[in-house]
Amino acid sequence: MDKRLGVTDSHVRICSVVGARPQFIKASVVSRALSAIGIEEDLVHTGQHYDRTMSDVFLDELELPEVSVNLEVGSASHAVQTGSIMVRLEQYLSESGAHSMLLVYGDTNTTLAAALAGAKLQIPVAHVEAGLRSFNRAMPEEINRIITDRLSDLLLCPSETAVSNLTAEGITQGVVNTGDVMYDALLRYLPKASRAYPLEQIIPYGTGEYYLATVHRPENTDNVSRLARIVATFGALDKPVVWPIHPRTAGQLSELNIETPDRVRTLSPLGYFGILSLLDGAAALLTDSGGLQKEAFWLCKKCVTLRSETEWVETIESGWNVLANSDLANTQQLLDRPAPAGLSAPYGQGDSAVRVANALKSFQTSRPRRD
Ligand code: UD1
Repeated sequence: MDKRLGVTDSHVRICSVVGARPQFIKASVVSRALSAIGIEEDLVHTGQHYDRTMSDVFLDELELPEVSVNLEVGSASHAVQTGSIMVRLEQYLSESGAHSMLLVYGDTNTTLAAALAGAKLQIPVAHVEAGLRSFNRAMPEEINRIITDRLSDLLLCPSETAVSNLTAEGITQGVVNTGDVMYDALLRYLPKASRAYPLEQIIPYGTGEYYLATVHRPENTDNVSRLARIVATFGALDKPVVWPIHPRTAGQLSELNIETPDRVRTLSPLGYFGILSLLDGAAALLTDSGGLQKEAFWLCKKCVTLRSETEWVETIESGWNVLANSDLANTQQLLDRPAPAGLSAPYGQGDSAVRVANALKSFQTSRPRRD
């Protein structure tokens, strides 16, 4: 028997911690793969995202296990949100006992807080989407990534670039290139998405008649002139823009009194099925989301990323993605560029969730005892 929380060597019981939209999607495919090889899982929802449109719709659509506990932290400053998750998760982990591993996803405050709580309880931490870097520490997500990777025992990378980023920081132990579980999710759910949300149920445009846009990063939403320029750019494009609006952005538009032009069709945030269906029908994508850049790449849609850098460098190298100029003046030209020829598969073959589950199992059976 291990001295930590009463864990036995043979039984693998994982605590997965999710809390924000992209984590529900990643966890849904990993949970299926864990259960297929007999790994027991407790799913903790931190409550970082809590609206029906930001949370419940994902839990309803995706095949996730029942949530064991919702920590209900809600919105707050970074320190308060991160600290509240740590306090409540530590209590849950201590009371529920006997977790042999903690599994965290991506780069949110939920990820960082869970990694810190787990590491301090000496529960080994596994990080799905390890090794990503934008090299821009003004992004809260970059800080979350760096610290989470430093604390993780098992680093599950979506690409070779992510492995190299870790090597450059001196992290070489416990690193596995599993590929990106978001690709598994897209392959699994796209057919269901198109059936559940045909375009005509969401918008008055047909395939190829509109651009899809999403904006939620603070660098775009928290600066009035930047946000106003983005909205004006959307209004001046040659096709209408369909824009499901993140609550952060909706709040800023209203607070800053920025009106959206008629050609920009704003929608409430959509679930995963709705957004996949809209992307599949779009002429191209304008976004600052990490996940959507890759989904556009896999669906062979041109993407213009509304940022000055991206973690997903392979999408840029392939030509399917470009970074917008800071003044956005050339956005139409970027959308009009010819589609690139040739396809590559830098993020795995769609079997990444199985690779994640197998890596967790091997880690559990081979890790050196700490006692
Ligand atoms: C978070 C992640 C980001 C991820 C994104 C996906 C961090 C630092 N950022 O950003 O990495 O790409 O989720 O969406 O963890 N709000 C609601 N309802 C909700 C959730 C949020 O109204 O259900 C509003 C609140 O005003 C809140 C704001 O959105 O203050 C921002 O929410 P927050 O939890 O800080 O993260 P996101 O911006 O969504």
